[in-house]
Amino acid sequence: MNKNLYIKTYGCQMNVYDSLKMENLLKPHGFNITSNEKCADLIILNTCHIREKASEKVYSELGRIKEKTAGKKVVTVVAGCTAQAEGEEIFRRAENVDIVVGPQSYHNLPILIQKVKEKQKWVIDLDFDEVKKFDQIQIPDHPHVSSFLTIQEGCDKFCHFCCVPYTRGKEYSRNISEVYRETIALVAKGVKEITLLGQNVSAYCGRDNNDNLRGLGWLIKKMAKIEGLERLRYITSHPKDMTEEEIFNVHQQEKKLMPFLHLPVQSGSDRILKMMNRQHSRDFYFKIIDKFREYKSDIAFSSDFIVGYPGETDADFNDTIDLVQKVEYARCFSFKYSPRPGTPASVIGKQVPEEVKSERLEILQNILREQQLKFNKKFEGQSLEVLFEKSGKYTNQYVGKSPYLQSVVVKSNVNLIGKIKNVTVTESGLASLNGELMEGNS
Ligand code: 5AD
Ligand code: SF4
Repeated sequence: MNKNLYIKTYGCQMNVYDSLKMENLLKPHGFNITSNEKCADLIILNTCHIREKASEKVYSELGRIKEKTAGKKVVTVVAGCTAQAEGEEIFRRAENVDIVVGPQSYHNLPILIQKVKEKQKWVIDLDFDEVKKFDQIQIPDHPHVSSFLTIQEGCDKFCHFCCVPYTRGKEYSRNISEVYRETIALVAKGVKEITLLGQNVSAYCGRDNNDNLRGLGWLIKKMAKIEGLERLRYITSHPKDMTEEEIFNVHQQEKKLMPFLHLPVQSGSDRILKMMNRQHSRDFYFKIIDKFREYKSDIAFSSDFIVGYPGETDADFNDTIDLVQKVEYARCFSFKYSPRPGTPASVIGKQVPEEVKSERLEILQNILREQQLKFNKKFEGQSLEVLFEKSGKYTNQYVGKSPYLQSVVVKSNVNLIGKIKNVTVTESGLASLNGELMEGNS
């Protein structure tokens, strides 16, 4: 019998990827995806723990779901990082939850659901068995033209503000052959671009068929040989791991690897970087940026920033502004620091007042916005190769991505999805570019 599955996903790309995998895993068990929670037989909240009050948001969503599904038989699952962090506490605070499953255990969902059906109450699985999880991966029938592929999970860096090492566990890299097989299967189903995912993807260290350990650069070179795969990206990197010659070479030599790198720095102050346990200085970061630019002159960068880390002074914040002005980013993400229970930074006494954090965030974001506008503007009148991914809001409109991850919108009478076309940029904004297909394209 067909049953309805409703999934709500919070947080990062890794969670988006995991939700898709859960959907594919449950399909053979009769579950079809629905966007209407009211008619769901199974509800999964795939949670994130990185933002402020993440757990509180999940509990209030669970309360809302309880009301909406009152009187109905529905299995409710809390998956992901809040599940890992809160564990059994979830059952205590939200009685309507049947299953709590961590990010490394969702492959067990069919068994866990069965247990609930057999009237077991409060089923929990927070194991860290990454190998088994990846063994269960199913390729979707119609994957997105630009798909994600997890090659690495977990993090051993232990930045003092971050909950990832506790919720996602230690670093784990999938084998080359496994990654390769999944790529081939995705490409056979029409995927043109793959973004290699990992909390700390630059620490990738996977075994090849001869049991040799290989890094990210080696893997990219191998994947780039796959015919039909047109583009590769990877996210997220840690500056400390970006030292191997191979990664610079591959950016220089491999046309399929897009010239865009997300390289979070978090702060421009050496003092704060040290307190954050980032394990790199601002000069080290500049050196990496310069080296990438030396090998690949058009490479564009993005970063994450935290303002108002405990103990951050005006001088520290000015160092961040100075770093931003020196690097010149294409786009960035920036956040006010907020304590995560259990992390070392959460118990530092010198928390920065909320209004100071807000003020600093506004100053930083204004500068980042200007840089993003400037970066986009420089493409006006120029040609960009765009991989089209979806239809736009209006008829005959298509939206794709430039090599620098900008959204590009064009008009076309023919369906462009899955195609790479040369586009002349006619207009630029903050979030997207408008363009026209160049002659000779169609
Ligand atoms: N407070 C604010 N921002 C945080 N991030 C991670 N932990 C925190 C925190 N406690 C940000 C970092 C990271 C991004 C994914 O989220 O900038 O790179
Ligand atoms: Fe968190 Fe990234 Fe630091 Fe790892 S490297 S602890 S994921 S911020």
